[in-house]
Amino acid sequence: MSDMRESLNGIREDFDKAMEMVKDSASAEQLRVSFLGKKGKLTSVLREMGGLSAEERPVIGKAANEVRTHMENKLADIAMKVKEEEKSHKLKREVIDVTIPSDIPGAGSRHPLNMAINEILDIFLGLGYSIAEGPEVELDKYNFELLRIPEGHPARDTQDTFYFNDKVLLRTQTSGMQIRIMEKQKPPLKVICPGKVYRSDALDATHSPVFHQIEGLVVDKGVTMGDLVGSLRLFAKKLFGEKTEIRLRPHHFPFTEPSVEVDLTCWSCGGRGCRVCKNEGWIEVLGAGMVHPEVLSNCGIDPEVYSGFAFGIGVERTAMGRYGIDDIRLLYENDVRFLEQFK
Ligand code: DAH
Repeated sequence: MSDMRESLNGIREDFDKAMEMVKDSASAEQLRVSFLGKKGKLTSVLREMGGLSAEERPVIGKAANEVRTHMENKLADIAMKVKEEEKSHKLKREVIDVTIPSDIPGAGSRHPLNMAINEILDIFLGLGYSIAEGPEVELDKYNFELLRIPEGHPARDTQDTFYFNDKVLLRTQTSGMQIRIMEKQKPPLKVICPGKVYRSDALDATHSPVFHQIEGLVVDKGVTMGDLVGSLRLFAKKLFGEKTEIRLRPHHFPFTEPSVEVDLTCWSCGGRGCRVCKNEGWIEVLGAGMVHPEVLSNCGIDPEVYSGFAFGIGVERTAMGRYGIDDIRLLYENDVRFLEQFK
């Protein structure tokens, strides 16, 4: 029995000594486990109590409990102390210096396509046009039929698209907006319509199945081809600089008569001829013409009284020229390294 008493005292002394080394909650826990844990020193002494007599057992039991209570109290004290210390350390460490400049989240920038669209819209707003937008899921009659492109017309093949059914498709051009506008509003009209259009083209450096156009429409009494040329020349100079000229080439669009394709002085070489314009000195940017009389009457506007011109600008082409972008895919990949250059 005195052996056990001695070992209990020894354990208590060892514990007190070890206690002095405790510096943090991890070492306190280690200490608890090595004395009070399942395989701890006190626990193993208690296991030997089975060998004691009935009189000895309560005496040693009491002494062992005292040692246990002593250790538990000490551990509780140290736990509190350590916790306080750790807290004050943490407070010191995490002190906030409100004078340090903050990390400002990087501000984004406008997409070059939107920049080009805005620049173009600005020019026409300055000429007194208003902006109209229409649906990308369009009716066949607006996209084709009322623009004089009936079923079976070859122009449908060159603008092959995505059909939902016989009557509904993803618009291949913004020209349908001409009809939508003239059905609702009567002349004088001066409207500009930006938007996405779709064609089943494969993606390469110059083609994309989704791209953007800006449609223009002017209808009034006495509107002439001269007005069209003057407006487009002004547009070209505002966008690409005073030296820019336009060149008209005869073309065919079913909804205009006469129809032209319009080239601008090459923005890369100024007209001398280079790789960008394939030595032409000119770059094609838009289609235009005088609104076909039948298109006017399709919308209830008398072609004997009114005339108009229309044009369709390719936005990607224009943006690529304006900002020196040589691959259309860069406009859709949204690589931040590319987009950042337009800040
Ligand atoms: N919609 C035509 C296209 O996508 C472009 C166009 C040509 C629009 C002549 C017009 C126009 O308004 O008058 O190829």
